[in-house]
Amino acid sequence: TGLTTRFYAKGKKFWGTCADPGTLGKSGNVAVIQSTFGQVTPENSMKWDATEPNRGSFNFGNADQLVNWAVSNGKLIRGHTLVWHSQLPGWVSSINDKTTLTSVINNHITNVAGRFKGKLYGWSECLTEQGGLRDSVFSRVLGESFVTVAFTQARSVDPNAVLYINDYNLDSNNAKTQGMVALIKRVNANSQLIDGVGTQMHLEANGAGGALAALQLLASAPVKEVAITELDIKSASANDYTTVLKACLQVEKCQAITSWGVADPDSWRSGNTPLLFDGQYKPKAAYNALIQAL
Ligand code: XIL
Repeated sequence: TGLTTRFYAKGKKFWGTCADPGTLGKSGNVAVIQSTFGQVTPENSMKWDATEPNRGSFNFGNADQLVNWAVSNGKLIRGHTLVWHSQLPGWVSSINDKTTLTSVINNHITNVAGRFKGKLYGWSECLTEQGGLRDSVFSRVLGESFVTVAFTQARSVDPNAVLYINDYNLDSNNAKTQGMVALIKRVNANSQLIDGVGTQMHLEANGAGGALAALQLLASAPVKEVAITELDIKSASANDYTTVLKACLQVEKCQAITSWGVADPDSWRSGNTPLLFDGQYKPKAAYNALIQAL
């Protein structure tokens, strides 16, 4: 049986992958997702540049296709992403007053989260910081309050969605992971807005050694769950992959893993061959090692 079934048997929620209409057009890829993975994250189709390229004009063609495919194939969906500094249209980046930006964020979330209400396991909101806030139009104009603005709006639009904050370089007990925990504590001090925290885990070879410490530290934040949201590992050594799996199995709050793609040629890091399947959609040694470890 596939990865997600075995992972589920260990008390976890799912092992998923990213997808989008492009990769869903490849039959070998689709067959692997159907048999192996339990969840999909839209790789690009729900990002701001795809969904609201011009102010107030929404485009859901690719996102609808992804969601319809997932629903008809019984896969859970993690939304990605409502508010993020990257893949953000210029018209948003150039806003410089609080009132306009707040209403633009709220309107974006109303339309995007509203469109897929009830169909999504959760939204991952990407905020980036190195112990502090990453420079973006959001942090420049609104300061840290943009996190509260976005989560408050997402909660009111889709009250049952599990709301995640999600970031990269949360791969060990480092300043950024500590900063993330501190941020969640501040935001959640008055109301439980952030339900979960995601570590993307785009790892280098031999880079999995800090995974357990990172998951333990993230689990100490006032959240219900933790997830690995975009896993890929340069060269995909079996040992690195099983180290990440064992770390998640050891941390009760670590509820889910999503691979950032199925087969190496379709990866955003294709030169690094970081995924679990090769160009023929055959399982690699790392996949077989995960199945053994489960
Ligand atoms: C990447 C996609 O995989 C690429 O296709 C796209 O060109 C750039 O974005 N962190 C994230 C993901 O949160 O959305 C990014 O996905 C990878 C880094």
